[in-house]
Amino acid sequence: MNAPEIYPVPPGFAARAHVDAAAYERLYRSSIDDPDAFWRGQAAFIDWLQPFTQVSDTRFDPDDLRIRWFADGTLNASVNCVDRHLPAKAAQPAILWEGDRAGESRTVSWGELADRVNRLANVLKGLGVGKGDVVTIYLPVIPEVFVAMMACVRIGAVHSVVFSGFSSESLENRIADAGAKVLITADEGLRGGRVVPLKHNADRAVATQPSIRHVVVVRRTGAEVPFSPGRDLWYDEAVAAAEPWCEPVEVGAEDPLFILYTSGSTGKPKGLVHTTGGYLVHAGTSWRIIFDWHEGDVFWCTADVGWVTAHTYKIYGPLLNGATSVLFEGVPTWPDSSRWWSIIERHRVSIFYTAPTALRALMREGEGPVAKHDLSSLRVLGSVGEPINPEAWRWYHAVIGGGRCPIVDTYWQTETGAVLLVPIPGAIPNKPGMAAKPYFGIRPAVVDAQGQVLDGPGEGNMCFAGSWPGQARTILHDHERFVRTYFAPYPGYFFTGDGVRRDGDGYYRISGRVDDVINVSGHRLGTVELESAISSHPAVAESAVVGYPHEVKGHGVFAYVTLKEGFAESDELRREIVAWVRERIGPIASPDIVQWAPALPKNRAGKILRRILTKVAANDFQDFGDTSTVAEPGVVDDIVHRRRQELAGSN
Ligand code: WTA
Repeated sequence: MNAPEIYPVPPGFAARAHVDAAAYERLYRSSIDDPDAFWRGQAAFIDWLQPFTQVSDTRFDPDDLRIRWFADGTLNASVNCVDRHLPAKAAQPAILWEGDRAGESRTVSWGELADRVNRLANVLKGLGVGKGDVVTIYLPVIPEVFVAMMACVRIGAVHSVVFSGFSSESLENRIADAGAKVLITADEGLRGGRVVPLKHNADRAVATQPSIRHVVVVRRTGAEVPFSPGRDLWYDEAVAAAEPWCEPVEVGAEDPLFILYTSGSTGKPKGLVHTTGGYLVHAGTSWRIIFDWHEGDVFWCTADVGWVTAHTYKIYGPLLNGATSVLFEGVPTWPDSSRWWSIIERHRVSIFYTAPTALRALMREGEGPVAKHDLSSLRVLGSVGEPINPEAWRWYHAVIGGGRCPIVDTYWQTETGAVLLVPIPGAIPNKPGMAAKPYFGIRPAVVDAQGQVLDGPGEGNMCFAGSWPGQARTILHDHERFVRTYFAPYPGYFFTGDGVRRDGDGYYRISGRVDDVINVSGHRLGTVELESAISSHPAVAESAVVGYPHEVKGHGVFAYVTLKEGFAESDELRREIVAWVRERIGPIASPDIVQWAPALPKNRAGKILRRILTKVAANDFQDFGDTSTVAEPGVVDDIVHRRRQELAGSN
């Protein structure tokens, strides 16, 4: 075996870091020995209205699950994220926004942010939104997303942000599940020079949703869009007419802060519910530590606002700390592949957080687009969303970071709310591709298929013992599914759905999903959800979806499709099926490969044998293991034969 590649903490970095190696060891130990004392200290970061008396009340028992943190404390999230920075920073930039079109930019100061938040909160109140009501936000990456989220939490309402790349059908399902009262959207979005018809999608989604009483529309492009007087109102007009002060509503630490949907291994997306106190403590303190943020840093997280990465480490983390951050509406490759690097240069970004899939795409363009720009302001780099392959890691480190910046590979999930594994940059030497070590108060466990917890190095399922404040409390309307998915598989532990390997130094490397979820470009897609979209096409009898290794996306979507009698296989039909899925879920879910399969391999109980389909999709035609369970053995040979033919044809 090759000697493990280790990149020490860069010289000089530890001396000014919040946490160095000795502090990590000491703090980690004490956070495990006495988690309540540790989190009590961290909770001092938040301005509480009523202080809490009990830190935690938690039990990972599937028969009696309890996750409560700081439960009798009260607070308001927008006061912590916005108001408390005003005395020192009212005129300083909170958000440095860059539009999709190069040259279009805006700076939003803390004072301006506070003004808009208060006014929009009053608008929402006037529309009948109160504590506990859900507001769905379907916006492009513009400062109004921050305003909308903060306006909700100012009045104790719960935000549900839906990725603006999702279709009207996906939006509709999320509105229906949450019973949202108000939808906040825009006339149109812009991404990579293309127009996204947001209001049009929103109108289609709302048409069937009586719970939505009003639609607030931000003018982004100024295009003419349909407008329903009485139901719809323009954001700019409503905000201008509203009172500039809105009294913040006091909420309990365990009151919900937001809902965020993510795909699961079965059926419909799950609405994970995050609560206020614990989430804000974990998000705010961990953001500062893992990115080693100091006053004067400029932070940029490239994630879209529709994902948890943005919720915790682009919006709540920086806002809670009063940090200046860059917000970019567009894509890294438009108008050309130097767009990101030009933004880093222009704003002197010092902390940059992105996803491996984007790095792999940009790596293909070579060093030319990077070399044109001065990236010397960068100090810390971050990665999230999927395992980063060592090749991309080295490119990121050498070409983007100039060999000087530590890389914080942050492992966590929508469900976990904030980071669980991470090489804290002043403390933990990097090993490419490894999310390294547990964050404070986090107890990882590698559990084998039999439920045995491994000691020392080894491979297994990624689980965690004991609760942490940022974790989701439930799935909206489906607590039973929450317990069954995360706490029942290995009683006493939270199960992530990921596989992991721990090396001899106690470093963790996540290997990817072990459930029926595919991680495509860092986005989670449930195979069952994809299959039901495909199978609803009139020509399709049945389908099976698996992931396959993809050079840029990490995994691609591979769909095996069985057609109904009377429908002929054709390239046109393939394209139609791909378009059908885009329409139903969104472009991120487009199948990369559609393979016709006259029949699917199943066991005698009728269960599709995905193990075999996954191997074939990866062009691995050997060793299918025990195929005696396949009800009709000829089916496997046929699928292999067809795949080989496709490959031969494409060469
Ligand atoms: C994967 C994103 C390896 C993992 C914060 C997880 C990662 C899922 C990493 C959660 C990482 C995320 N290394 N794998 N650093 N970060 N993942 O809910 O499979 O969008 O379960 O949260 O992404 O995706 P989610």
